[in-house]
Amino acid sequence: MSIFDQTLNRRCTNSVKWDTMEKVYELSDTTDILPMWIADMDFAPPSAVSKALQKHAEEAIFGYSYVGEEAKQAIVDWQKKRYNWHIEKESISFSHGVLSALANILTALTQQGDKVLISTPFYPPFFSIPKSNDREVVTCPLVAQDGTYVYNFEAFEQALAQNVKAYILCNPHNPGGYVWDEATLKEIIRLCAKYDVLIISDEIHADLMLDGAQHTPLAKLAGDEINRVITCMAPTKTFNLAGIQVAYIITTDKKKQMLLEAVNMASGQGSLNSFAPVALQAAYAEGLPWLEELLLYISNNMNYVIAELTQLPGIHIAKPQGTYLLWIDCRQLGLNEKELMQRLLEVGKLALEPGSKYGEEGRGFLRMNVACSFDTVKDAVARFKLALS
Ligand SMILES: Cc1ncc(COP(=O)(O)O)c(C=O)c1O
Repeated sequence: MSIFDQTLNRRCTNSVKWDTMEKVYELSDTTDILPMWIADMDFAPPSAVSKALQKHAEEAIFGYSYVGEEAKQAIVDWQKKRYNWHIEKESISFSHGVLSALANILTALTQQGDKVLISTPFYPPFFSIPKSNDREVVTCPLVAQDGTYVYNFEAFEQALAQNVKAYILCNPHNPGGYVWDEATLKEIIRLCAKYDVLIISDEIHADLMLDGAQHTPLAKLAGDEINRVITCMAPTKTFNLAGIQVAYIITTDKKKQMLLEAVNMASGQGSLNSFAPVALQAAYAEGLPWLEELLLYISNNMNYVIAELTQLPGIHIAKPQGTYLLWIDCRQLGLNEKELMQRLLEVGKLALEPGSKYGEEGRGFLRMNVACSFDTVKDAVARFKLALS
């Protein structure tokens, strides 16, 4: 028996995952649909986090607040403990989320019309946020190889050479869950330095390492190029706190940090909700045993789904190294995406994400979120099989 066998009942709680499927999937009734799409978990966070939030609620001090030294120290300690990465408290800025950080970083450190490079398939907001901030998105596809993706550095360099100003890295990669190795990260740094490109490294999935995989923050490898790297991290994916909305940005370049904070102030985002640092601090200071148990549980869920679904002809799944999302290759099924989604939703009553949301390279894949109880995973596998039967 694991604590993760128990899940929260999230239907009718204003949950994006459970309560917005009518709109997202254009369905009139979703009461019997099992959602395994958007990236949050069905689990309660560590009890230390809930207790700290309850204490804060009881104290009822909700005036303007700032992020105290203890919360910053909790971040410094977490980076040291998890990644042997030494950072200074002064290099940390805060944001309501990685996505608002991304928008503000682009506003602060690039100009309207500048080119921003991404490697596809990629998390959808990394297409839309630069575009809606009047930046031009340039894509460079990753290359599928042995069930994983690799960089084509020749194509990557050609893309950078087109006067690109910023590169958004996703490490571990969403949707694939790949943890980029040090050689790959060093080559990204070398090429971005050659073309004087800012690196925005989104490492929100970093803590979700499975089966002994090891995440390396790109900035740790940057050496003399450290000032061209901005790292975005958060406890929200790790500890299921997305609704609390807290993320942080690490940069050693004081000028970049000042510009970023000026944009935060200009948009009225100079401070956080007072619950946010409370949750962050409790999660980092006391959440590690919960996280270790979670990762074993997720790994087991993944093993089950992979073992079951890869028995179906035309389905291939490589186990990710870091995330709770599975990237299911259905390209050999002989169904187009519309047919596949229709069968899953109408026959299987299962809501997964269609791969084309992640760029054309994702077409023919499905993204499945297995951060739920093992019973739910078994139910999902049965629904998937029914949909394809
Ligand atoms: C790679 C990646 N970056 C950013 C986010 C969103 O982060 P936030 O909720 O902090 O804006 C997600 C959420 O799924 C994600 O997968």
